[in-house]
This record gives sequence, structure tokens and C-alpha cells, in this order.
Amino acid sequence: MISFTTVNDLSAYIREIKPTKTIGFVPTMGALHQGHISLIKQSKKLCEITICSIFVNPTQFNNPSDLENYPRLLENDMKLLLENGCDVLFHPNVAQIYPDGLLKNEEDYGQVVRVFEGLHRPGHFDGVITVVASLFDIVKPNKSFFGQKDYQQCMVVAELIKRKFPQIELNICPILREESGLALSSRNLRLNETEKISALLIYKALNHIKVNYSPKDLRKLIEEAKQIIATSSLLSIEYLDIVNANNLEPIGNSITKVVALAAVHCGDVRLIDNILLN
Ligand code: PAJ
Repeated sequence: MISFTTVNDLSAYIREIKPTKTIGFVPTMGALHQGHISLIKQSKKLCEITICSIFVNPTQFNNPSDLENYPRLLENDMKLLLENGCDVLFHPNVAQIYPDGLLKNEEDYGQVVRVFEGLHRPGHFDGVITVVASLFDIVKPNKSFFGQKDYQQCMVVAELIKRKFPQIELNICPILREESGLALSSRNLRLNETEKISALLIYKALNHIKVNYSPKDLRKLIEEAKQIIATSSLLSIEYLDIVNANNLEPIGNSITKVVALAAVHCGDVRLIDNILLN
């Protein structure tokens, strides 16, 4: 695996390989787990060269202590990437990505950045849009790989690609879970054993919705799911809802793809999860 830390060095490499090789790109913030690795594997299946970036992006954190506490485990990450056949790692510092200071997107991305994560983490998606656009500009991939784990992020990236990078293919990969059902996340490292057991209730609640889903009685279903989460005093719900999976709007009477989305605080760790219902 080749490692680059500067935009200049990576760009020189990309110029060399780009004319002949299909480039697959997996952007991450590190503290890698098998969920990230599943994206690497998918990229390796579809592309000749797989590039992973590890960059803890300051502009997408709206809480300074969350940024500070974000796990940084570069040595371990490099080992995992190497073992799984990643070809290139890009791990720049903040000055490489933000040479002009921490500016972020000011374009209006519409409804999809205003609800759920957008509502509860103001400015978060502007930071994501900025960093993903900058990384796309540098890496110039043919295909990009994102996880359904961050459902709304996938929708925002789809809009970014539509507006600015129509040449890049978006591949959305399924959520990898522990056998218990807990969605793998770098943030799980911050849960103690008791919190981890409570966190399982999030998937239990989403699964309850999936198993019992019928478009008729959504309010009742959401209430039941909330009750499941409320059985642990360690959990507090930020949002839990069932919406149109294409635009995150209320379902109404239309026949459409439907998703249940949740954000729940477990102790002081904020966890998100989702499940497609049809
Ligand atoms: P990060 O949280 O490190 O996630 C990197 C990618 O891994 C994202 O596309 C995410 O959806 C995917 N991922 C995380 N957990 C997963 C799981 N359990 N199963 C499958 N995929 C999973 O998302 C980000 O970083 C950042 O916002 C980023 C896009 C890198 C921009 O900074």
C-alpha cells in the first residue's frame, strides 16, 4: 500500500495512473472497522485501484468535544487497510485540505440537509459537502463508495454528484452490523459494556418497525419503537421517524420506498441507525 499525506504527491500519482486504471474511492474519518472494510472490498471488486482517505474533517463537527474525542488510530487503520488489499491511503492534515481556512459550503442543498441530521447538527452537511467535494477534486475517482449507515449523507452526496461530479458513480453499500444487531460505528469504541447492551435496543426498535410495517398505522408503530428504546434509562431519543426514502418527507398516501431513521444518545455517545422497510 502506498501512503500519501500531501495533495501534490497524491495528484502526481493520480495523473500517472488515471489514463489506464479505474479508481475506486472510499472516504473515511478513520478508526476503521469492518463496516469501512466492506466498502474497501466492494471497491476492490469493481475497480483496479482502491484509494481510501482518512481525514477527521473539522468542518462537519458542530460540537468541539465530539471532534476532540473522535478516535484517531492511524497505525491500526493502516494495518487493516494493508491486510484488506487497499492500494492507496491518503491521510492529509487540515492545512492540506483547508489551505484557505475552515470555509464551508454555502450553496442550498434543499430539504435533504434541513431535516433529521441537518436539523440536529446545524452545518454538519455543509462540512461533509465541502470535504467530499475537495476529496473528489483531488482523487478524481471513477466510482465512490459510501455506507447506507449514514443514509442521509448518501442522499446529500448523491445531490453533490448530480450538481458537480456527474462523472463519478455513487455506490451505496449495506449496513454492517455486529451479530447482536448493533450497527458498526467508530463511536461504539466510546461505549462501555452496559451502554453497549442498551444500544442494542436501537436496532431492536428499528427491527420491530420493519417486521410490523404497514403504511396504515405509522404513528402507533413509531410509538411502540420509542417504547422499546425507553426501556433503558441510558438512552434518549433525538429523532425516530418513518419517511419517504427518496426525499425524507412524510409518506402521505403515495406508494414509495420507505425508511425508518433514528438518532439516539447512549450515555454521551450519539448513535444513528436506519432500516429500509420495503
Ligand atoms: P466515517 O464515519 O468514517 O464513515 C466512512 C464511510 O463508512 C461512510 O460512507 C459510512 O457510511 C461508512 N460506514 C460506517 N459504518 C458503517 C457500517 N456499519 N456499515 C457500512 N458502512 C459503514 O462518513 C464519514 O466518515 C464522513 O462523513 C466522510 C464521508 C468521510 C466525510 O468526512
